[in-house]
Amino acid sequence: MNLFRTKPIKDLLRGEEESGLKKSMGALDLTALGIGAIIGTGIFVLTGVAAAQYAGPGLVFSFLVSGVAAGLAALVYAELASMIPVAGSAYTYSYAALGEFTGWLVGWNLMLSYVVAVAAVAIGWASYFTDLTHSLGLTLPRVWTTAPSAGGVLNLPAIAIIAAVAFLAVRGTRQSAEANRGIVALKITVILFFIALGSFYVKAANWHPFLPFGPAGIFNGAAIIFFAYIGFDAVATAAEETDNPEKNVPIGIIASLAVSTLLYIAVTVVLTGLVPYTALNTASPVATGLIYAGFPWAGAIISVGALAGITSVLLVMTYAVSRILLAMARDGLLPPLFGLVHPRFRTPYAGVLTVTLVAAVLGAFLSLGLVAQLANIGVLTAFIVNSAGVMVLRRTKPHWPRPFKVPLYPYTPVLSVLFCLYLIFSLPRLTWLQLALWLGAGIAVYFAYSYRHSLLQGPAGPRTKAVPAPAAKFRPGVGEKEERP
Ligand code: ALA
Repeated sequence: MNLFRTKPIKDLLRGEEESGLKKSMGALDLTALGIGAIIGTGIFVLTGVAAAQYAGPGLVFSFLVSGVAAGLAALVYAELASMIPVAGSAYTYSYAALGEFTGWLVGWNLMLSYVVAVAAVAIGWASYFTDLTHSLGLTLPRVWTTAPSAGGVLNLPAIAIIAAVAFLAVRGTRQSAEANRGIVALKITVILFFIALGSFYVKAANWHPFLPFGPAGIFNGAAIIFFAYIGFDAVATAAEETDNPEKNVPIGIIASLAVSTLLYIAVTVVLTGLVPYTALNTASPVATGLIYAGFPWAGAIISVGALAGITSVLLVMTYAVSRILLAMARDGLLPPLFGLVHPRFRTPYAGVLTVTLVAAVLGAFLSLGLVAQLANIGVLTAFIVNSAGVMVLRRTKPHWPRPFKVPLYPYTPVLSVLFCLYLIFSLPRLTWLQLALWLGAGIAVYFAYSYRHSLLQGPAGPRTKAVPAPAAKFRPGVGEKEERP
């Protein structure tokens, strides 16, 4: 049994040719995809709890800490994405760098992270939706808009938005990318509007005390608010639908993260200056900020923008996780069902429907804090493995072409591991336990199913196809002769 056997690069790249997905995206589309995935529930919803309960006005430092962790990981992702421009993201990279078993665990972990993130984001969407309808004079019954832990029965708006997103995601990449571009423009406009209007009403007194929970509050806040940065990795999952992915994927990752970080910092400075941090413990804190400053109409504008913006996060996340499932099915580690591409829409519809169904159930019954923390730990773990992967690949595959290289190597990946570890240690022990249980289940599934069906090492020996795909040519490569045909 060889758990650490890995695929030759020609097989990784062959997946790209065989996928049957359309190559329709450029650098700008990818940057929009990244911003679409990044800016959402984190800034619009979690900022409130994080400021009120963890960090106070010092939340801006929490955003800096999380932003540095995400930025270091983004550089690592950019190198990996430029080397291995195929769908699957951290799953594919760790498969290539650290072998099948590690790849499986990362993929399994990402499945959890993305599905719970979709659920968390939908819960955030539901809270703005309920607030907006309330301000329009229609108060939705609490039992149908909140989870049991908050006194409700189930969260119907969360289910409804996930169902709508499932429909759009099955309909196709191009339509989704176009819808995404429009939504991203609206989301950025609304955020700039908040910053511009809010900055006139900032009171310096609200920034005192700056660290009401002490310096530890900064890190506890950062561990929660890290959720706001999840999503740039979704850019890497679109590699197979991108022109010139070696160049465009790194640009998309870094540009989308940079824009989001700047907006987050500006929003946090203004928000904590507008309102005393103690008043931010609401379901829609950014709208609350402007209502508090005396502009209820502006609060409504923010709510509409937040709803649209959060919807695009849902779209991109759903898109991303279905591509990870596709890559895992293609390798034989998941049943071929997840590799089915719709004959007309060219989207992995079975994966989309499965993911959205599970997310809808979680979103209906769980609280935002619980699912957001679980998503954070999953993504932080994937970042750690990727950072290790970049270092392993520099040693084991020094000749593979790297159109983008991590600057300040090896400090960048080492610091990335340390930052992510620190944030994991700042999360509750219960979250660790939940992740450990999920990974335990993943190990069981690997030996019960994936190991036997793997393309590389089923009991019948290496095979060549798990998912039926059209015949394809290999891409001409430029690296090691024996590995890149
Ligand atoms: N970063 C995404 C959000 O904040 C998940 O909604």
